[in-house]
Amino acid sequence: MNTFPKDFIWGTATSAYQIEGAASKDGKGPSIWDAFVTIPGKIKNAESGNVACDHYHRFKEDVQLMKKMGVNAYRFSISWSRIMPTGKDEINEKGIEFYSNLIDTLLVAGIEPWVTLYHWDLPLTLQLEEDGWLGKTISDRFADYANLCFERFGGRVTKWITLNEPWVAAMLGHGQGVFAPGRTSNTEPYLAAHHMILAHAKAVKLYREKYGFQNGKIGIANNCDWREPLTKSKQDQEAAVRALEFFLGWFADPVYKGDYPKSMRERLGKRLPKFTEQEHQLIKGSSDFFGLNHYTTMYASHDDGVTSEGNVYGNGGISEDQDVSLSLDPNWEYTTMNWAVVPWGCQKMLEWIAERYGNPDIYITENGCSYSDEVINGAVNDYKRVAFFKGYLTACKKAIDNGVKLRGYFAWSFMDNFEWASGYEKRFGMHYVNFKTLERIPKSSAEWYAETIANNGVLDN
Ligand code: GAL
Repeated sequence: MNTFPKDFIWGTATSAYQIEGAASKDGKGPSIWDAFVTIPGKIKNAESGNVACDHYHRFKEDVQLMKKMGVNAYRFSISWSRIMPTGKDEINEKGIEFYSNLIDTLLVAGIEPWVTLYHWDLPLTLQLEEDGWLGKTISDRFADYANLCFERFGGRVTKWITLNEPWVAAMLGHGQGVFAPGRTSNTEPYLAAHHMILAHAKAVKLYREKYGFQNGKIGIANNCDWREPLTKSKQDQEAAVRALEFFLGWFADPVYKGDYPKSMRERLGKRLPKFTEQEHQLIKGSSDFFGLNHYTTMYASHDDGVTSEGNVYGNGGISEDQDVSLSLDPNWEYTTMNWAVVPWGCQKMLEWIAERYGNPDIYITENGCSYSDEVINGAVNDYKRVAFFKGYLTACKKAIDNGVKLRGYFAWSFMDNFEWASGYEKRFGMHYVNFKTLERIPKSSAEWYAETIANNGVLDN
């Protein structure tokens, strides 16, 4: 058996818009996702998160299911516009009450809440009136909102994640336009990202200065897929590093080193905003742990003729800025997102982070897979998902054995949910959700995870 360190955190994760539903209930204001889903053609089958898993009304049942799995932590996000309907000034006490009850229910069940402040659902008012992440006011708005969360939930909550995957919000939201707010540009992603980094850092400063007595920890969850050099050539090896720098280094370098990677500065010139001296100080060291969302791997090779057509893999970045071509191995196993299942990529990713960022405490804040699960005789045998988790957790263990300080793992996702532009067709959950009746059915993977947690390790068989 692959036994994990004894204080290893075994968790599971979700996000507000993907599961809560109750999109306009009890005073919640609209978010950019509430608006985005109404644009024809943006979401598969024109679906939305209006009802989603109806977690807003069923959270007690959900916490009981989590308890059954034996997780020690649950990562969820707060919908900003549920507690501040316009993103500023006015507070919606009904929204506060919902999260307060959820937190208390988790604590009673012995599950530690890990709270993400921003998982992409920006209050619509801030988008319309202040230009969202492109505007100058956003980082202070975010810090004010974070302050409200620390004030009301802090103490009971001691693990905070400022932003979820700013790469996605910047690239898919402001570059490719496939996620809210649906903008397409090759400059705006860099500006939006710049403001996200500042927003993160301001919230962290405030938390440390004003709420330090709560003895909590705060960090950011960045996403990155592994990039393996296609050949052993120096050019491809450099291309793979460059691809990682444009993906993860874009956000993690500022947080750990105080500035963007040199490769980005060189290639992007004026399109990459600059931090002032004061901002360098503010952002450097602004994370107590390294949050990583990791899903897949691709090959990278040097290519100075990359065009945006033909090279949009969704997880690739603005390829023409990087001079990197991405490719796949047809022999790999693929999920229904067409993401390759490559556990060794996860190990390499963790080791790369440890090496580049001074061996920080790392938490995998998301890892998982979508398969087209089916209920047969009341059960869902998702053996492919079990194999996925087994493979990735075994890779995690190898990284730990090699000295990586991986402290915890959050399986994405606790239950099937609204998978953004893919709607409900893609199922990532360890619990099956029937989106007509809203019934939840534990899949085989939930049972497997429970067993793994009980053993504090992955069984070999
Ligand atoms: C992440 C995201 C999650 C979930 C997952 C699977 O990028 O944070 O919300 O959708 O991917 O696609």
